[in-house]
Formats: sequence, C-alpha cells, structure tokens
Amino acid sequence: MKDNIITIDGPSASGKGSLARNIAAHLNFDILDSGLLYRVYAYLFDSGLEHTKIVAHIKKNILFKTDNEGLTIQEGSEDITGKLRSEKTAKAASKISSLKETRNNLLELQRGFYISKGLVADGRDMGTVVFPNAKLKIFLIASPEVRAKRRYLELQNRGQEVNMLALIEDIKQRDLKDQTRVLSPLIPAEDSIVIDSSEMSLDEVLSFTKKLTKRKLNK
Ligand code: DC
Repeated sequence: MKDNIITIDGPSASGKGSLARNIAAHLNFDILDSGLLYRVYAYLFDSGLEHTKIVAHIKKNILFKTDNEGLTIQEGSEDITGKLRSEKTAKAASKISSLKETRNNLLELQRGFYISKGLVADGRDMGTVVFPNAKLKIFLIASPEVRAKRRYLELQNRGQEVNMLALIEDIKQRDLKDQTRVLSPLIPAEDSIVIDSSEMSLDEVLSFTKKLTKRKLNK
C-alpha cells in the first residue's frame, strides 16, 4: 500500500512551492516545504547553534504558519520569513544540506509531517529518499533563465536588490552543487513524472497535475 503523499522535487525556483500550495489546497492535504526546513537549519547553525541542538530547537521554538499570504515562519515572536528567503540563507542552506549530519537530523522531522489525511512535500529528495513510497512523484524543471526571472520578480517584490546576471550564475552553480553532491543528489526518482514548466503557466502545470492526482490517488 502506497502512502497518501505527493512529492514534488526539482531545482530552485522551478515553481515547486506554488504547485505544492495549490495542490495541497485543492486536496485539503498538509504541506511540507523541505527547502524551508533546510533554510531554518542553516539559519540556526549560522546563529551559533550546534548540529545536535538544532532539531530540538526547531520543534520547540519554530512556528510554521500557512495563511492567504503563504507560509510564514516565526522564531518565538519574531517573524524570520524574510531572513530565510534571502539569497544569503539560500547559499548557507545549499552548503549545509550536503552534510550527512544535517540530512540525518532532518529525516525523521520531515517524515513526521505526514499524518493520514495526506501530504504534499516539495524539495530535492522527497521522492527518492524521504518518501519513497509516495503515490505520486513529480519532478518539476525549468530552464535557468526562466527560473532566474521568476526569482528576480519574487525578490524584487520583497524589496530586495538583485542583479539578473548574478542570479542566473548563482542558480546554475547551486544546481550543479545540488545535482553532483554525494548524498541525496537532485535527481528524478525512477517512478517520477518529469514536467518541464519553462513554457507553461502555473495554471497549465496545475491542471496537468490535477489529472495525475485523479489517476494516481483517485482524487
Ligand atoms: O528549495 P530551496 O531553495 O528553499 O532550498 C534551499 C536549499 O536546501 C537548496 O540549496 C538545497 C537544499 N535542499 C535539500 O538539500 N534537500 C531538500 N529536500 C530541500 C532543499
């Protein structure tokens, strides 16, 4: 029996987050943004916490809230969403996520997001390592240029200064790092369905995915 889980893996800014949020709302499933967990981990490590203390700190002090604005993260009473979404934290997360210790520490925490109602989990290794028994596995890709443009608009909306060429270069380098690392490299699971969203709107990707959920989850 497969688990009531949809995994959406792929490189950064391929549209995984928007697809995951929309599909989760459509099916009334819970949601796991695993990239954000890696960002929280990197942020806490950079603020001086040791590897062995981070998961306990996340369980005790980090609050994940989903509302109409999307996902926000609070540490105690402080909203740290902006800090987590910065390119600085993205780089730190990319670096720390290649360590065995980090991946082991976060494994059970990620699996704990699945309770019977169903889960949409997005990241890099959701279908290959964390939820190999998922009913539907999607691998979402888009060209580096398209992804850089999306990230540019996203960062600009948040009032952050960005340089388009530097962004394309950053994305290519992070892809290479994520794809070639030894542990949990960014590769499609054998039983995943690859969607290239370079020339597709979110609505098109969404309606295609809804057809897949009907077929694979009967929903
Ligand atoms: O999706 P994102 O950009 O928020 O992810 C931040 C970093 O975390 C990314 O460089 C790779 C890492 N990551 C990972 O190694 N495994 C995951 N399942 C999710 C993210």
